[in-house]
Amino acid sequence: MKTPDTVTIHVNGRPLSVKTGTSVAAALRIADAARMGVARRSVHGEARAPFCGMGICQECRVDIDGQRRLACQTLCSDGLRVDTGLPAGGQNP
Ligand code: FES
Repeated sequence: MKTPDTVTIHVNGRPLSVKTGTSVAAALRIADAARMGVARRSVHGEARAPFCGMGICQECRVDIDGQRRLACQTLCSDGLRVDTGLPAGGQNP
């Protein structure tokens, strides 16, 4: 059975197609580069982004299918829902 070349996830309700094997952290970076405005903010409004990429720093925590998980340790799969905690529309303040 052939693995699909891309999967589609939903970031703050908006679809995003990425290559199979892409981590959620990388997908969020791709989405941010595409100006989807998905960068995570701390409770104090400071910009947050993945730092270590190996599950240590916890800076990449987002809601994935309703559970708080590390984006750098989670691979994208078709239909995965990622919520970075931004209001509908995904724009940063
Ligand atoms: S980037 Fe450090 S835990 Fe994910």
